[in-house]
Amino acid sequence: MQAATATRARGSDRGDAKSLVRGYGLPVSPRILVIVGSQRPEPRLRALAGVAAQSATNAGGDVELLDLATLSLPVMLVGDAGQDELPAIQRVRKTAREADGFIITTPEYHGSMSGALKNWFDFLYEELAGKVAGVLATTGGGSGDMSIAAVKTSFQWCHGFVLPFHAAATDPSLVEEASMTPRVRARVERIGHDVVRYARVIRPAFEEARARAAEGSLSGFAGEHGT
Ligand SMILES: Cc1cc2nc3c(=O)[nH]c(=O)nc-3n(C[C@H](O)[C@H](O)[C@H](O)COP(=O)(O)O)c2cc1C
Repeated sequence: MQAATATRARGSDRGDAKSLVRGYGLPVSPRILVIVGSQRPEPRLRALAGVAAQSATNAGGDVELLDLATLSLPVMLVGDAGQDELPAIQRVRKTAREADGFIITTPEYHGSMSGALKNWFDFLYEELAGKVAGVLATTGGGSGDMSIAAVKTSFQWCHGFVLPFHAAATDPSLVEEASMTPRVRARVERIGHDVVRYARVIRPAFEEARARAAEGSLSGFAGEHGT
């Protein structure tokens, strides 16, 4: 996968009516948005994101990669309508809205996710609800648990579902794709496959429940999001 701001690699033809999942119009090839959450121009994280993106493509996903370091997003200001007009913010919201699932990658910064990634979350809420995310991290030696837990918490607080499995590359020298350990690579590949697998199930279930909002509590939390 190219290290562009937003790169798309098609898994299969999304326009084929036979490829629609029953009940909700989600194609068998769900859209997966890969977020590279580093604040370095040449992040090590990109190698991890590339392996995950390739595995999601192999699983049939329609994969797009968004590199936050290239976006120049301003810090989110509550109530600043001018921010809504900025192309970078419109891009963040559009790519998230269109996605059926996410692979979210972060460097561990001071025991948490990067500021750039938290800022990405702050521009979003509705766009993440009822979708699934897999989480990957790079660290300078820490376990990655802190940053991974922070990303999972924020995604869940936006009413998304997270995979109960994650991966961290804890030694920066092992993050380069050529020198990635087989164990890290295998975990990252599993996450790429699983995000596609569960996006096909979770998004349709959420959309079906959301369409039942008028039935009150029968629609579960999806009903809180209206139709
Ligand atoms: C501001 C800052 C804070 C960091 N905090 C931690 C930390 O708490 N724990 C850790 O293991 N590494 C920490 N690191 C190291 C990065 O996690 C590590 O270099 C990572 O590989 C960077 O990934 P990237 O190249 O994709 O940006 C920090 C780095 C920066 C720049």
